[in-house]
Amino acid sequence: MELGSEFLDRIGLINEIRERFVLDLHGIHGIRHWARVRRHGLRLAEQTGANALIVELFAFLHDSCRLNEYSDAGHGDRAADYAMSLNTRYFELGRTDLEKLCYAIRHHSDGMISEDRTIQCCWDADRLDLGRVGYVPDPFYLSEVAHGYISEAYAWSRQTPLSVIRGGGT
Ligand SMILES: [Fe+2]
Repeated sequence: MELGSEFLDRIGLINEIRERFVLDLHGIHGIRHWARVRRHGLRLAEQTGANALIVELFAFLHDSCRLNEYSDAGHGDRAADYAMSLNTRYFELGRTDLEKLCYAIRHHSDGMISEDRTIQCCWDADRLDLGRVGYVPDPFYLSEVAHGYISEAYAWSRQTPLSVIRGGGT
């Protein structure tokens, strides 16, 4: 039984992550990216039956512990540990769901595919925003449902020019 699985202090969680975040909040792994991943993920979850709370938590947390804007090999592990430390403070997931969230976070940049609809939904949502760094999402790494959003997601990711996203002088 997943007691309290609907609990999410969204504002508290975002404020917590913002205070901890050491990169540019308006950079390529910053708050606009979290918002697009959340939007993609929740829309996909409606169609696939993925766990929407896990998907939303993934959007906010998966890049929260990055130390640089590049590959940063340890950022998934750090963010998974961070997510675990926040459970029952800003959200409440049962053991199975928490493990699922942490697995999705830990491996989100490992180029994997999952048969679990919630984990794949998290990765789909993140990959659909690759347009912000100039890549069209590769269907090979996406669920079939996500295939239908590649063009739209790419256009959305490209709406804000990279020079602005990266802070270019301001
Ligand atoms: Fe990401």
